[in-house]
Amino acid sequence: MSEGDLSAVAPARLAAESAGLPGAASAGGLIENSVIRPVRLEDAEELADLYRANQEHLVPFIEIRDDSFFTADGQRSRISRAIEASAANESWRFTILDGEELAGTIGVTNVIRGPVQGAKVGYWVAHGRDGRGLATRAVGEVVDFAFVQAGLHRLEAWTLVDNVASQRVLEKNGFARFGLARALLLIDGEWRDHLLFERIADKP
Ligand SMILES: CC(C)(COP(=O)(O)OP(=O)(O)OC[C@H]1O[C@@H](n2cnc3c(N)ncnc32)[C@H](O)[C@@H]1OP(=O)(O)O)[C@@H](O)C(=O)NCCC(=O)NCCS
Repeated sequence: MSEGDLSAVAPARLAAESAGLPGAASAGGLIENSVIRPVRLEDAEELADLYRANQEHLVPFIEIRDDSFFTADGQRSRISRAIEASAANESWRFTILDGEELAGTIGVTNVIRGPVQGAKVGYWVAHGRDGRGLATRAVGEVVDFAFVQAGLHRLEAWTLVDNVASQRVLEKNGFARFGLARALLLIDGEWRDHLLFERIADKP
């Protein structure tokens, strides 16, 4: 296992512990190498500040939210739901860290179990903290979590057609483009086409 692989183990274990997943192990001394950790209620204020500061940056990428989304109370409710969902093994939400500070979020959602064992990955990094490899590392760590701890077999990510930076992040993490979905998401009042990316778990 390389050093890069080691850093990916920590969030997987930590998130598994938080989610109560089988196979969860102590995060031990590896946590400090990781750029993601499960979102916590204490993150609410900092996260609300970050969303407010990045509102314009994120408009092309997030669904329309009501005003409470940008408040600490609104974020606390969202985080609370996210913690419940991870405890129920339904979806997982992590903060992306830049040192001690929050730099964005990444989530594993739309989980389908049964014969599919698939989910979707979504993420963002704050303007001013981008271009330094944070999203690339976060996606790598979440892939490890999804396949190793959550037991998933397939991950998808969807990008706007012109979101080359996000496509690059995915390609660097072994995702391959497999299609174009027309009018997939309603963003800022418009149904937008998206490129579809997939990554399949490596065979043991
Ligand atoms: C897209 C986003 C997640 C990238 O985060 P990041 O931390 O800057 O990503 P990284 O630094 O890990 O990698 C970015 C890569 O894209 C490349 N890149 C950035 N802008 C680019 C552009 N306009 N054209 C081509 N490549 C570009 C970078 O050079 C880098 O690749 P490299 O390592 O090969 O040089 C971030 O800009 C963001 O949150 N944007 C808004 C929300 C969003 O798009 N979320 C994803 C929705 S699918």
